[in-house]
Parts: sequence; structure tokens; C-alpha cells
Amino acid sequence: MLEFLLNGVPQKVNHCDPNSTLLDHLRTQLNQNGTKEGCASGDCGACTVAVGEISNEVDSETGDQADNSNEDNIHYKSVNACITLLANLHGKHVITVEGLANGEQLHPSQQAMIDCHGSQCGFCTPGFVMSMFVLERNHDSPPNRHEISEALGGNLCRCTGYRPIIDATVQMFDPQLSPSKDRFSEQQSQWLTQLRTMNKEDHVRLVHNDKKYFAPTHLEDLAELMLRHPNARLVAGGTDLALEFTQFLREIDTLIYTGRVADLKRVETTDNELSIGAAATYSEFSPALLAFYPDARELIERIGSRQIRNQGTLGGNIGNASPIGDMPPLLIAMNAQLVLRCGDATRTIAVEDYFVGYKKTLLHASEFIEKIIIPKPAKNSVFRAYKISKRYEDDISASCGAFSLTLKDNRVSGVRIAFGGMAEIPKRALHCEQALLQQPLSSDNIANAARAMSNDYQPISDFRASSEYRLKVSQNMLTRLHLELTHPENEHATRVINHA
Ligand SMILES: Cc1cc2nc3c(=O)[nH]c(=O)nc-3n(C[C@H](O)[C@H](O)[C@H](O)COP(=O)(O)OP(=O)(O)OC[C@H]3O[C@@H](n4cnc5c(N)ncnc54)[C@H](O)[C@@H]3O)c2cc1C
Ligand code: FES
Ligand code: FES
Repeated sequence: MLEFLLNGVPQKVNHCDPNSTLLDHLRTQLNQNGTKEGCASGDCGACTVAVGEISNEVDSETGDQADNSNEDNIHYKSVNACITLLANLHGKHVITVEGLANGEQLHPSQQAMIDCHGSQCGFCTPGFVMSMFVLERNHDSPPNRHEISEALGGNLCRCTGYRPIIDATVQMFDPQLSPSKDRFSEQQSQWLTQLRTMNKEDHVRLVHNDKKYFAPTHLEDLAELMLRHPNARLVAGGTDLALEFTQFLREIDTLIYTGRVADLKRVETTDNELSIGAAATYSEFSPALLAFYPDARELIERIGSRQIRNQGTLGGNIGNASPIGDMPPLLIAMNAQLVLRCGDATRTIAVEDYFVGYKKTLLHASEFIEKIIIPKPAKNSVFRAYKISKRYEDDISASCGAFSLTLKDNRVSGVRIAFGGMAEIPKRALHCEQALLQQPLSSDNIANAARAMSNDYQPISDFRASSEYRLKVSQNMLTRLHLELTHPENEHATRVINHA
């Protein structure tokens, strides 16, 4: 049986199709139509809801999780209900737009939207209000403009031109207009108790006609389930997998959810490396990754939207084996390793060896990605990652390049360069690397290495970019890296124009 809270009210679901989404459940089973369906693919944000989970604090500097279960609270994040599997919500608290007002009193996010004329046709409004609500819950002090844009980047509006919505978000933080205490703070301890009880359930399982769903909590149980069901599909955030239901109308017989396995959510840092559990979301692992690689920030902040980063995982990004996934080129340039598990046995392989053909990997039946190990950057090394997409936020890359260079006596003593979007798999630019190795970083050598890239890749033309454009823009990334290193004063200007 599935149990969760919806706007503070306990829900018990005895029978449901494990392929069904939260949005379907809200609109067709519960008649809660405030949450809208725009695209059913995670792109428009009309279906945004808040999902709260029991969490203890994560150190925002290192990303390490503190072991202070006495200080549990409910941490809310925005997600797209259209690509959230209903079954994945066991033991969580879903808040929809119907649950924001306290009796007659609107939530500050709702009141501010009215005051600032942030709504016209209104179709996008519930989604915006929910993203604003989550921003308000997670910020004690008013966010800056960048933080507001980031929080709302996954919500589209065709009517307002956005300015009134941003004004409303600013007004929402005005202490004179917002109540000092709201029901979400007042009822937190009662909801925590209810969620703790639900989370005592070790094995959540659903059987519906011929379909099965399992949500184990221990790594060993997950491994055992994978052995027993070699044709099962793993689901983590579901931001990729759920599109199979909503866009391609396929059905999956057996699903195994990784998001309740604590070992797969773990993010740990040592002096030399960072270990990220395959089921850690972008929001969960990025503080630790950015502590090691601060120059990866712009790229990570451009993966999907806030809603996608709250739900999508590193294991899912590698597991979907897409040639246009953004993390594999970064991980290859970082020389990251994957720990794969099958039953009790584990093996470690380099990320660059994992992809063997279009959407084909070295993974065997019943095997899965347990964690990703990322070494600390070498001394005197520089790292950069650039993404080219048609839209700055929430868009898939036409090309994504990652560069890791070690410099000694002004020469390149080590280099790893990898691209996504340039071949049928995420792939190293070995000819380009060879042209740089042991050479000084001069303009001529950079131009030479950029030319060598045409021996590494023969990219395809598609609706995202032509083959010629992909190659040219990827070569230009190398030039950009050189300009940033030689003229750091211009770095901001190049960052701002980083989209097609
Ligand atoms: C609107 C939108 C925008 C997006 N933008 C981007 C973007 O900018 N950049 C980008 O790279 N991606 C993007 N994505 C794709 C997707 O969000 C990411 O790839 C995400 O990291 C997938 O993680 P997940 O946990 O949701 O994977 P899921 O959907 O749960 O799983 C994806 C695949 O990985 C497999 N899998 C999951 N966990 C494991 C594991 N532990 N071991 C082996 N296999 C596993 C699953 O079986 C499935 O085949 C976007 C998606 C959407 C809907
Ligand atoms: S309906 Fe568009 S993101 Fe869900
Ligand atoms: S108010 Fe019409 S889409 Fe935003």
C-alpha cells in the first residue's frame, strides 16, 4: 500500500497503476484540478507542486550530510507532477495550489501575484505560485534576482512577460506583507510524526494487473530484487523514464525505485575524492561537486530547470546513456569512475569506458550503478564546462564540452577533453588532446588543437544544430577557454553570451 500526505491529509492508495503519474492521480482520481497539464514532459512548469521529505541538514559548503536525526525537518522542493510517478511519493508530503491558503487567508505567494498583476489567462499561475512557495520556504532572507530567475526558470508564461511575476516574488518576501508564522511551520511537527510512521515501511510494493513496483530501502534488497527481476527497469527521479509513459504511451511491467535506498543517496567527501550515490539528485550532490569543481557551476545550473534538478539524479543521467546528457562529458573530463553492482559483486570502471554505442553501455542484466567516484582536481589544473543550447535555461545541449588541463612551466602537462552531442556516445577528443599535450598554451597551438577536433568528431545534423555548427561551436569553446585563461578580466562577458 502507498501512503503519503496531500496538503496535510493522509492518503492511502491500495491499488494504482505503477506507471501512473501524480498529475494523473490529482486530476482524474482526486478531482484536484488546480495543478495544470501543459506539456506532460517537464518543460512548462504548469504542473509544479511541492514535495516535502524528511531531511536532516546538508552542509551547504561541502554537501556532506550531518547525522543529526534529532534535528529532522521537512524539506520542500518543487517538482513537475506530470513526470513524477505516484508510487515514488510514499512517505512524502505533497502540497498543491489547493493547499496553500490558510482558510480565507491567501499564502503570500498568491496575494503577491494578485497585487502585482502576475496572472492574466491564469493557466501558468498555479505552477508559478508553487515555485514561489518553495522559494519562500527555503529562504530566510530575500533572494537576489539570480536566485529568483533560477527558481522560476522552469515555469513558462505566454501572457505576462514575466516582470510582474518577478515583482510578485520580490513582494512575497516583504516582511510587512507576510505573516510571521504560517500553517506550514505550525503543523510541521505533526506532519513529521506522520511521515516518520509511513517511512517505517521497509518494502513498498504494488501489484496491479501484470505490473509490479518495488521500493526497497536497503542496497542489498535492491540488488536482490534486480537479480530476481532481470527485466525490471530502475526508476530514480523518473524525469527521463516517465516520458516513456507520457510521450510515447509505452508501459513498463516491473519498476524498481532507487530513491528510498539511503546508500544510493549518500554524498561523501574525502581529501582526495568525492563519492556520489547514484540516486542523489542534482540539488543534493551539486554543493559537494562545486566545492571540488567551482567552475562547473554555470553548467550544473543550466541542467533542466530547478524542478528537474530537484528530482533528476546523477545515476539516471548516466543510466539513460543519452549522447546529449550533460554530466557524462564532465565526468569523463574529471576522470570519474563508476562503481557497478550485481548481487554482492561490484566492479569499478571509468565513465569514459561505460558507453559503447548509441544508448548502449557495459551494464549487464541485473547490474546497476551504485555510485560515482570523482577525483579531486590535480594541483595546477583548470576545469571548464560549456553548454550550447537554443534556450539558456531548461534546454537540451546541442553540444556540451568539458575541459580539464594541468599546467606545468606554462605547458600542458595533462589534458582530458570530452564532449556530449558530438558523437553517438559522450566521447573524449583524443586528437585535440594530443595536439595540446606538452605544448605551451599559445593562440597558434589552440588553433591547431581546435582543427584537430575535426578528426575526433563527425557530428550529426538535427533540429538542435547542423553538423557544421556543432563542430564550429565546439572548436570555439577551446578558444573561449584560452581567452578566459589569458584574459580573466573578460570571463564574465564570455559567460553571458554562452548560448546560441
Ligand atoms: C524538461 C527536461 C529537461 C531536461 N534537461 C536536461 C539537461 O539540461 N541536461 C541533461 O543532461 N538532461 C536533461 N534532462 C534529462 C534528465 O532529467 C536527466 O538525464 C536526469 O539526470 C535523469 O535522472 P532521473 O533520476 O530522473 O532518471 P530516471 O528517469 O529515473 O532514469 C533514467 C534512466 O536511467 C536508468 N537508471 C536510473 N538509475 C540507475 C542506476 N542507479 N543504475 C543504472 N541505471 C539507472 C533508468 O532505468 C532509466 O533508463 C531533462 C529532462 C527533462 C524532462
Ligand atoms: S505539464 Fe508541463 S511541466 Fe508538467
Ligand atoms: S498568465 Fe497566461 S500563461 Fe501565464
